[in-house]
Amino acid sequence: MNLSRVLLFILCIATAQAQSLINLIPQPVSVQPQPGVFTLTRATTIHYNQADAKEVADMLSQRLNTPTGFGLAAKPGKTGKIQLNLSETPNAQLGQEGYMLDASSKGVVITANRPAGLFYGMQTLTQLLPKEIEGKVVAAKTWSVPAVKITDYPRFGWRGIMFDVSRHFFTKVEVKQYIDQLAKLKYNTFHWHLTDDNGWRIEIKSLPKLTSVGAWRVARAGHYGDRAEPKPGEPTPYGGFYTQDDIREVIAYAQARNVTIVPEIDVPGHSMAALAAYPELSCTKAIVSVNPGTAFSDWYGNGTFKMKVENTLNPSDEKVYEFLDKVFTEVAALFPNPYIHVGGDECYKGYWANDPGCQALMKQLNIRHVEDLQGYFMNRVEKILTAKGKKLLGWDEILEGGISPTATVMSWRGIKGGIEAAKEGHNVVMTPTTFAYLDYNQGDPTVDPPIYAFLRARTSYGYEPVPDGVDAKYILGGQGNLWTEQIPTLRYAEYMTYPRAWALSEVYWSPKEAKNWPNFVQRMETHFERADMAQVNYSRAIYDAIVKTSMKDGKLRLELEGEIPGLDIYYTIDDTMPDQFSTRYSQPVDLPDGPINLRVITYRAGKPIGHLITLSRDALQKRIGRF
Ligand code: ACM
Repeated sequence: MNLSRVLLFILCIATAQAQSLINLIPQPVSVQPQPGVFTLTRATTIHYNQADAKEVADMLSQRLNTPTGFGLAAKPGKTGKIQLNLSETPNAQLGQEGYMLDASSKGVVITANRPAGLFYGMQTLTQLLPKEIEGKVVAAKTWSVPAVKITDYPRFGWRGIMFDVSRHFFTKVEVKQYIDQLAKLKYNTFHWHLTDDNGWRIEIKSLPKLTSVGAWRVARAGHYGDRAEPKPGEPTPYGGFYTQDDIREVIAYAQARNVTIVPEIDVPGHSMAALAAYPELSCTKAIVSVNPGTAFSDWYGNGTFKMKVENTLNPSDEKVYEFLDKVFTEVAALFPNPYIHVGGDECYKGYWANDPGCQALMKQLNIRHVEDLQGYFMNRVEKILTAKGKKLLGWDEILEGGISPTATVMSWRGIKGGIEAAKEGHNVVMTPTTFAYLDYNQGDPTVDPPIYAFLRARTSYGYEPVPDGVDAKYILGGQGNLWTEQIPTLRYAEYMTYPRAWALSEVYWSPKEAKNWPNFVQRMETHFERADMAQVNYSRAIYDAIVKTSMKDGKLRLELEGEIPGLDIYYTIDDTMPDQFSTRYSQPVDLPDGPINLRVITYRAGKPIGHLITLSRDALQKRIGRF
């Protein structure tokens, strides 16, 4: 080897080492590892070139100070070892949220057109530092950043997570904590599901009973949907709500993290908590309770259902629109986001069909189907919002009764609502159950607490938000949705959110062409370690076996699969505990007849890594064609 070859060899090794330290989520548009590292020390200076960059620079220094203990302070200037620069002349490629990050042995320069881009550059810089940077205590560590040149900007402008605070209440401190985690993944939209059958969570000063009554319910444990009815006169200790000051505080906190908040007031269905406060707004005017999770509806398996307790506002009553005007006046004044989400989903029309006022209204409007009354209702709501300078956003049911083209549609019942809406010229946010529902089981339902549906991280990662045949200009972006019927704590909310929200952050931020599941898995595993440092919870279901069954020539056929590459799967059917000396799965197996139990375990590199999954013959038979 001559000298230049030796140097090239060393360069290649150094670059490969740097590359192994670069594990970013979401994956940037362009990452070019360079030789060398920059090491952060007590003497490192942090400068920003314009006053508008100060907020991010201060946030960066605070973020670094907790785990390093360095006490760094950001200052105006152009010669920082870490330099945050807002471009004097905008770089069109970077847009509003993009950034460039140049880390070399001399220092780190982050450049962006807008503070949002600097904020995202800061998130990337943090992910380049050792995992201890996520810690809550000072760590003795060499704080090295691998040298790298990154250019990065998002694929979609709407990158959101919906959080349901009605089914279970989460305090403003918890909501802020959740938003902070999302901002680190470059999500920019927090959809706050503030009202539903199980609690009204936003103070409306002109309608005080919404929170004095509607925010509280009887205490119940156990599976949502199976809980006992409230007893007459029973105290209602469970719940809570956000005062308008709380809301303003959360909005400001989110804004500092480039997160905008879309409030959702879910009407005309999902309104039982509002009706508990103001029963005169329903058709029957029956007294209802804020629901603690009883079996209040019957589902028929094809998406249709019947409500056994009224939870709809009466679309034929002018008082309902006066009520909504009051609600939206206060909501519009609080939230700077141009959109207000008005729900529109799962509205049961049975009480409307039997109501003389609704029947008269249908006659007057020449409406034949009671379903179309929802179109009338939604159009009235849109007029209220327009008068307050806000845009209507609703779940895809709003298409059914006819809605104005200015309405934006959130596609949730798969992607068909989104396709239809885009073809009609509506803007669309994609949040299909099939890829984006974070309340669904992500691990085997015999391991994770049971939920009515199923969605693996690998499936979420594989999502392509622009459906075939749809003009991409109508697809604003997408979200993950976390419904909380079965989620009583923030810790469990995190468990359900991650790693799927990591996968979706990449779906909505990164170039489509960059998608690569094995590569994502390797980065995800480093993020497990970072989450451990940050004490953020996540599911490890990706390490478990996927157990599938089918019938083949009268035999129960078993197929086992790893969700990630590199797992060895072992199983027994003889009522012994499986380990790496049991049968190693390699191809589909026809199981013998009789009352067997299957036990499956995963190993990696000779060590057990997944949960034990145990399934009786009966359970195996029941899952034919599922998972
Ligand atoms: C929904 O999941 N009901 C929008």
